[in-house]
Amino acid sequence: MKDLAQIKEKIDQLRTTINHHNYRYYVLDSPEISDAEYDLLMQELKQLEEEYPQFLTPDSPTQRVGAAPVEAFGVVEHPRPLLSLGNAFSQEELLAWYTRASKLVADQQFKFVCEHKIDGLAVALTYVNGRLTTGATRGDGFRGENITQNLRTIRSIPLSVPKEAPPRFEVRGEVFLPKAGFEKLNQERAEEGLPLFANPRNAAAGSVRQLDPRITAKRPLDIYIYMLGYAEGKAPPPTHWETMEYLKSLGFKVNPNNSLFATIDQVEQYHQSWVERRESLPYEADGIVVKVDSLELQRQLGSIGHEPRWAIAYKFPAVQGTGYLKEIKISIGRTGTLNPYAVLEPPVSVGGVTIRTAALHNEDDIRRKDIRIGDTVIVQRAGEVIPEVVGPIIGKRTGQEKIFTMPSYCPVCGAEVIKPEGEVMYYCSNAACPAQVHERLEHFVSRGGMDIRGIGESQSAVLLKEGLVKNVADLYYLKEKREQLLKLERMAEKSVNNILEAIEKSKETPLPRLIFALGIRHIGEEMAEILAKHFGSIDRLQNAHKDELLSIPTVGPKIADSIVGFFKAEENHRIIERLKKAGVNPKAKRGKLEELPLAGMEFVITGRLETFSRQEAEARIKALGGTAKSDITKKTTYLVVGAEPGSKLAHAQALGTKQLTEAELLQLLGK
Ligand code: IVH
Repeated sequence: MKDLAQIKEKIDQLRTTINHHNYRYYVLDSPEISDAEYDLLMQELKQLEEEYPQFLTPDSPTQRVGAAPVEAFGVVEHPRPLLSLGNAFSQEELLAWYTRASKLVADQQFKFVCEHKIDGLAVALTYVNGRLTTGATRGDGFRGENITQNLRTIRSIPLSVPKEAPPRFEVRGEVFLPKAGFEKLNQERAEEGLPLFANPRNAAAGSVRQLDPRITAKRPLDIYIYMLGYAEGKAPPPTHWETMEYLKSLGFKVNPNNSLFATIDQVEQYHQSWVERRESLPYEADGIVVKVDSLELQRQLGSIGHEPRWAIAYKFPAVQGTGYLKEIKISIGRTGTLNPYAVLEPPVSVGGVTIRTAALHNEDDIRRKDIRIGDTVIVQRAGEVIPEVVGPIIGKRTGQEKIFTMPSYCPVCGAEVIKPEGEVMYYCSNAACPAQVHERLEHFVSRGGMDIRGIGESQSAVLLKEGLVKNVADLYYLKEKREQLLKLERMAEKSVNNILEAIEKSKETPLPRLIFALGIRHIGEEMAEILAKHFGSIDRLQNAHKDELLSIPTVGPKIADSIVGFFKAEENHRIIERLKKAGVNPKAKRGKLEELPLAGMEFVITGRLETFSRQEAEARIKALGGTAKSDITKKTTYLVVGAEPGSKLAHAQALGTKQLTEAELLQLLGK
């Protein structure tokens, strides 16, 4: 038997903490912890209250939704309360929700509507006799703030609806700021020296709750309607799905990613498929909302407290957490860039992954986000990319934080640090800097480069340390040093053979990959392909004049200078000669860029692509000789139409421009 007094104390503590965070989040729009951490606190409190119902009180934060409205706007009473949602954090919890619901309404066939749970701000819009009369925030679920004037500035909210609409009804939806708009807004605020928003949700809330609607109007806010609150004078359709279709027909914006499913397995698949693709969404979503489709079943299932039994939020794994930024360190990239990164201590656990360091990108970025040493920061892990610092939590500042400045000398070799004009990066000026050499070697043997298996991070370090390899060309002379190799740590006969074999085989690597592997500043895989096609050999590329380089349509001065500079360096010259002598000298079929498959074709992209970002698509198009433009003209060959196309589609239709689907584009790109 646990000590009840202790439990009561724990519950009180949790309530105080949660109330504090509610206030930061809902009233100040300035949270101190991540959503995931908040969820954990709530879960803990709920569990304790379930186990010890004697301590449950009506004023517990589990018993209400959000915080009280700010009086300045005027208060709106919601005729029907705006509910919140229970959470499922795993498949088991989803199934538990489903099992419980299906037991309550025996013998019923369930259908589910799955929607994205967009991280924005819930609003209720009331229409009377065809006109928008009131727009309100959720507030505490019963009373919200009257923000009609602000909501009227959001162009995707219809100000009037067709005559056939019910005489009085209310729709509910999520107002949000798309990721791109959020970044732009923060950039502008940084330039004006204003505090930055921690995430798109806070930015949306901050924008909608502006006392001056003119400010709201400048923010690119958007809305997806996700339910009908009530309708008077006309019976709505019998299911949620059909209701959404009906609302669409009245002019409301409904998320096209919504889906209707017949089984809970399909719900799981929908969730999983979006866990993998959430990065590609133009808005921030932290999970999916699963809703029982039949409105009659919804009615029968009802709610417990503020949470309906007929719907649940099935969360995506957490991607954000907070931690203490103890130190900013520098790593040196293969082209000599000084890459600052944050050391987090203690390490931060995000969605089950421990993060010790997080990228800080460059000095401009650190300034823009106002990240200081000693700050409590939000860190984010997204897909396969390296975790990054999103920004500081200003509210946690003590005044002891220190502003970071880039060092004047390379922390590895001590050489002078330079910053070329017009670039954001700082560089170590010493090409022989051990850190640079190491990175270059790793890049050279990597998959996208010469793909020499068996030489990983630790092997390159050993080879460099023992002096067996001083630059990438030395790899091809290692077979003469077999005996020395065998003496190295963890290098048995077999692994030495494998490495030497892989090195030998890499001599056949095609020219574009060799060009990429050399690690010339600003030359990525696409550009390497273009150069290989144009020059056909390393010899020709090596001797290219700046003018010839500039004659290639996709090569600008920055790239041309980088190539000329690379081959002019004595050391690189020697490396190339030794590579050639060892037999690393692939040739490519030369062709004028005009012979590339997309030569002479001009592409414009509208809407969102699913398989790659717009930038990637444009890079592929350019690599194959095409051009990518942002506006439709008579010269446009194709308009590529992604999801939710913009006004370019109408423009193209007017001009009779040919259209391509994303699948057709992929085919053209040979993917
Ligand atoms: S349905 C009873 N659908 O999540 C159903 N909510 O905790 C209540 N949200 O306040 C809402 N996307 O701000 C619903 N597709 C969606 C949603 C969604 C985001 C938010 C909304 C609500 C909160 C529920």
